[in-house]
Amino acid sequence: MTQSTDALFQPIKLGANDLTNRFAMAPLTRCRAPGHQPNALMAEYYGQRASAGLIISECTMIQPNTSTFATEPGIYSQEQIEGWKLTTKAVHEKGGKIFMQIWHAGRAVHPALNAEENIVSASDIGLSGELQTPNGKVPFTAPTPLTVEGIKSIVNDFRQAAANAIEAGFDGVEIHGANGYLIDQFLRDSSNQREDEYGGSLENRARFLFEVIDAVSAEIGSDRVGVRLSPLNSYNDMKDSDPEAWIAYLSEQLNRFNLAYLHVMRADFFGVQQADVVSIARQHYKGSLMLNMGYSAEEAAAAIEAGTADMVAFGTGFLANPDLPARIKAGAELNEPDQNTFYTQGAEGYTTYPTMA
Ligand code: PHB
Repeated sequence: MTQSTDALFQPIKLGANDLTNRFAMAPLTRCRAPGHQPNALMAEYYGQRASAGLIISECTMIQPNTSTFATEPGIYSQEQIEGWKLTTKAVHEKGGKIFMQIWHAGRAVHPALNAEENIVSASDIGLSGELQTPNGKVPFTAPTPLTVEGIKSIVNDFRQAAANAIEAGFDGVEIHGANGYLIDQFLRDSSNQREDEYGGSLENRARFLFEVIDAVSAEIGSDRVGVRLSPLNSYNDMKDSDPEAWIAYLSEQLNRFNLAYLHVMRADFFGVQQADVVSIARQHYKGSLMLNMGYSAEEAAAAIEAGTADMVAFGTGFLANPDLPARIKAGAELNEPDQNTFYTQGAEGYTTYPTMA
């Protein structure tokens, strides 16, 4: 007997937006934006996936000279705003909704990809290991700890990026607080050893995130703002000494911001750090909770039915299946994602996955 996936097809009001179903398309780095400029090919790709209840865009630079993946898009220029309008129009014409994930990579910014040296973080702790550059492998540079002034300036860049995203037609933004990028570098104690009001206690480590949420919410309304967290992910050298207390604290505190949603990644890319962070998040967070990482449609529907999740985000499922909800509804076979074209240029492996016959 196959388990029902009906719960995924219930509409939901997520903050200010009415969504037609509970499928979110997870943010996916695809590197199809040469010069950091969003373009028509990207609009075609996102438009193809408009049957998701909510699309969350790939992580998008809020500042120049913060490139990490070479051809990721940005949202800091008028030209980029205009370029993104193609995407939001393509998604809206098909009845979809789309949030932009806004992002600063902090110490993960790639020195060889940027005209200016701009490697900042909470503390001076660099990534371990070596970095692949056009001139071979080099050790990662230790970041410069942000001054309080520097923090305020980046908070303002997040605010401006959110305003730009709305001007470009997005239905909201997701603040990227996950996966070892700048906000997460403040949140988790392996990368934050500050002794000022932005380091030490959980309250202090969360201060930067809360300031970003406040600034972005004042600009576009908190009901158009989501936050993504990854309590366990060790990607980008991350670790917290107590991930359970960490997610309990953040889930509880985030209640006061009246967000559109909280997006929690339940696992570690490498399977090293393990804990039941989902139950803790659900216990503390009263708003809409989006879960992600390795859910089958059946497991996702069961989580929604049980009240554990309100939405579930699918990454590679949407990458390889532009019509994922229709396929799930029909019980149809799914296309397999091709890892070789995740980060290449052009249409192949991007807009070429077929819909159902
Ligand atoms: C990646 O492209 O490897 C990547 C980007 C953003 C994330 C996580 C992974 O949040």
